[in-house]
Amino acid sequence: MLIRFRDPAAPRPSEITPEATWLDRRRFLASGAGLALAGFAGTWGLASRPAAAAAPEDFAPLPEVGRSPLSTDEEANSFQEIATYNNFYEFGTAKEDPARYARALKTSPWTIQVDGACARPGTLDADALITSPLLEERIYRLRCVEAWSMVIPWVGIPLAKVLDRFEPLGDARYVAFETLHDPRQMPGQRSRVLDWPYREGLRLDEARHPLTILAVGLYGRVMPNQNGAPARLIVPWKYGFKSIKSIVRITFTVDEPPTSWAVSAPREYGFYANVNPTVDHPRWSQARERRIGEWGRRDTLMFNGYADQVTSLYAGMDLARFY
Ligand code: MTE
Repeated sequence: MLIRFRDPAAPRPSEITPEATWLDRRRFLASGAGLALAGFAGTWGLASRPAAAAAPEDFAPLPEVGRSPLSTDEEANSFQEIATYNNFYEFGTAKEDPARYARALKTSPWTIQVDGACARPGTLDADALITSPLLEERIYRLRCVEAWSMVIPWVGIPLAKVLDRFEPLGDARYVAFETLHDPRQMPGQRSRVLDWPYREGLRLDEARHPLTILAVGLYGRVMPNQNGAPARLIVPWKYGFKSIKSIVRITFTVDEPPTSWAVSAPREYGFYANVNPTVDHPRWSQARERRIGEWGRRDTLMFNGYADQVTSLYAGMDLARFY
C-alpha cells in the first residue's frame, strides 16, 4: 500500500492556479454559458454575482494524513473552486450563496446523535473526529446531478468504522442522515424550497462500503462551512445530493428512509441516485458532464468511475427502475 505524507499546509500543484486562469474560469461560469443547466429543482437562476473568496489559510490545518489507495490520480480542482461553487440550500440556492452566508454557522461544539436499530445508541463529538487516528485523505470525483463535476481532496474517516461503534442490529438494513435544522443560523431554511431538515439515506451495505466516508475536511484543512462542516457524508459513486452536509443525526432503520430530493420531486430523484450515464434525468441527459474549470464536456462514467468497486452492490437490480 502506497501512503504518501505531505505538509497539510502546503498547497497542491492543482491549488496554485494562476489568477488570470482562475478569473477566466469564473467569468465563464458567471456568463451562464458554463452553467450546465438551469434547473435542479427549477429554482436556479444564472450566477451573475462575483464569487465569494475563500483561502485555505482561513481554515485550521488537520493533522498530517496518508493518501488512500482509493484516491483518483486526476488533478484536483482548486480550493477556490471547491469552496465557492457549492450546493447547500440551507444558505440559498445560488452557487455562491453558501460561501457568503455559511460563515456564521457555529460548528463547535457539535454533537451527532446516533440511534435507531443499534445495540449502543449514543453520540459522536465532531471535535473528536478531527483528531481521529483514522483520518485519511481521499481524492474523489464528485458528480453533481446537474451534470457538472469536480475532483476534491477530502479528509475523512471510513463511515463503516464510525457506524460499527454503535453496533447495528441484524434487522438494520438502512441508515438515515439528517442535517441541522436551525433557520436562525441557516437562512435558506426560512424558504420552503425543500422540506427541512435535509434528509438522506443509504442501504447499510452502501454505508459500510470502503469508498464511503464521513468527511471532516478538505485540502488538509478543517471543512469549510459551505462544504458541510463539521462533518458530512461522501458517497463518490452517487450523485452529489446523496452526500449530505452538516450532519446532526444518524439513524439505523429497518425500512428505506425518506430522502429530501426524492420526497420533493419523486419522478426526478430516486433513493439510489447512482451516477448512470444511461439513465437520463427527465429534464436533461446524464451522458456527459462539465468538469468545473474546464471548457467542453467529458463523458460521464458508470458509477462515476467507481464501477469496479461497487457494481456488485446492485447485482440483479434494474437500475432504470431503481434510479
Ligand atoms: N447537504 C445539505 N444539507 N444541503 C444541500 O443543499 N446539497 C447536495 C450535497 N449535500 C446539499 C447537501 C448537493 S446537490 C451537492 S452536489 C453536494 O452537496 C455539493 O457539495 P459541495 O458544495 O461541497 O461541492
